Amino acid sequence: MDTLPWWQDAVIYQIYPRSFSDGNGDGVGDLRGICDRLDHIADLGVDAVWLSPIFVSPMADFGYDVADYTAVDPVFGTDADLDDLIEGLHQRNMRLLLDWVPNHTSDQHPWFVESRSSRDNPKRDWYVWRDPAPDGGPPNNWIATFKGVPAWTLDEATGQYYLHSFLAEQPDLNWANPEVEEAMHDVLRHWLDRGVDGFRADVVHLIGKGDQLPELSDDHARAIVVAIDEPFTHELLRRIRSLLDSYAHQPMMVGEVYLLGPGQAATYLGDSDELHLSFDFRPVHTAWTADAFRAALATNQQEFAEPRWPTWVMSNHDRQRHRTRLGSDDAARAAAVLTLTVRATPFLYAGEELGLEDAVIPPERVVDPDGRDGTRAPIPWTAGPDHGWGPDPWLPFPPDAGTKCAEVQRDDPDSFLALYRSLLRLRKESPALRRGSFEWAEVGAPTVLAFRRRHGDDEVVVAVNIGPDPAELDLEGTILAGSRSDRPAGAFDGTLAANEAVILTGG
Ligand code: GLC
Repeated sequence: MDTLPWWQDAVIYQIYPRSFSDGNGDGVGDLRGICDRLDHIADLGVDAVWLSPIFVSPMADFGYDVADYTAVDPVFGTDADLDDLIEGLHQRNMRLLLDWVPNHTSDQHPWFVESRSSRDNPKRDWYVWRDPAPDGGPPNNWIATFKGVPAWTLDEATGQYYLHSFLAEQPDLNWANPEVEEAMHDVLRHWLDRGVDGFRADVVHLIGKGDQLPELSDDHARAIVVAIDEPFTHELLRRIRSLLDSYAHQPMMVGEVYLLGPGQAATYLGDSDELHLSFDFRPVHTAWTADAFRAALATNQQEFAEPRWPTWVMSNHDRQRHRTRLGSDDAARAAAVLTLTVRATPFLYAGEELGLEDAVIPPERVVDPDGRDGTRAPIPWTAGPDHGWGPDPWLPFPPDAGTKCAEVQRDDPDSFLALYRSLLRLRKESPALRRGSFEWAEVGAPTVLAFRRRHGDDEVVVAVNIGPDPAELDLEGTILAGSRSDRPAGAFDGTLAANEAVILTGG
């Protein structure tokens, strides 16, 4: 059988470390906690783990403001804990991706501390400094993400503004300076030499802003993250790819390219010489209707047609969980079938395998500058009142934590966890599901997304009924798996319940 790069054949599991598992009882998740749950992750059947940032950080953006790219923040543990995690994953045949934040550092990073210390500091040009506009205001009209304030903050001492696409505590690096590029390459090498298998690159499309920084139209200025799409970034990515390719263990980089326009994110794969994978965030932004999802999936498959390869993601640490968005267990279970059967590398967000909803956050518990606390609620492990956490977790638990916890679901064949496990198992056994071609199937039911996956002799058909009504399908075959645990095995009877999905063979 031909060999595929591992990341094309993988299911990747995102862990938001603060929220995953608390190894020392201080109410904040940590690396020890993740090590304690490796069997849960391995039993689920995923191939790799992506950790949101674990590096030294003042936590203005909970780790996406990095003050030292090569040291573990004490809140998450020690270097030795990280080694244990790498080893524990590798022993279980899983890989580890770290979150690399190349666009900005923390304002506490020594590089920035130096840079702001004087106009002629050798690191001044490592960040984006500009003189004030003639009226003394910011150099251009860009607005920072999160707070709706200018993307520029005046440094009183040196009389210049610095750029920050996000919080003022997250100054943007100047990748036009080759020393910055070299320093960030060193960060990648450091982790690759430590045995890490790749990276998720945070807002990586922003790094090639270049020197011009023009005024933007009002709409774009308010949303710079989705407006910056420059050729220089591609040049930088090609050099990053060469660095990654110089390692024998096939390290992979998946980029958070937050560009939602037609074809934009896909261009960051270059000619197989830039990112390995580029997130397509359309499924996260698509209403749960058959028409909308058919269009999102069609675009995904078209834009990432061979030789490109797509991702599929329904939830992450920045958006409401899809169980909450979609509104019911049935819909979330059908979405799980879709996620694990489309032609793509699926990304699961820890907790979705338990069917978790966002937590309800009372105003006095809000901690995130951008209202994302709900999706970051601690994962409930046990049924008991502390759910496997210290007495005072950093955020409230999601609804129904006593029944939607891992402990209760583990032995329940009707649970979300059982569904995810069975889908992942089936995927492992089926070359068609992992790597097969994708073709729409005509089943004569407008609310049903149906498609065929084929690889050699292996062929499966997936049918997902999106909507509140049952559907009659012109489709035959034998059930391999389905979203409902009460669906009898054997021949498919041609009817799908509301929000039901099935995987068939011999159709
Ligand atoms: C990305 C991350 C998000 C973070 C932002 C700034 O969008 O996913 O969590 O706040 O970048 O680093």
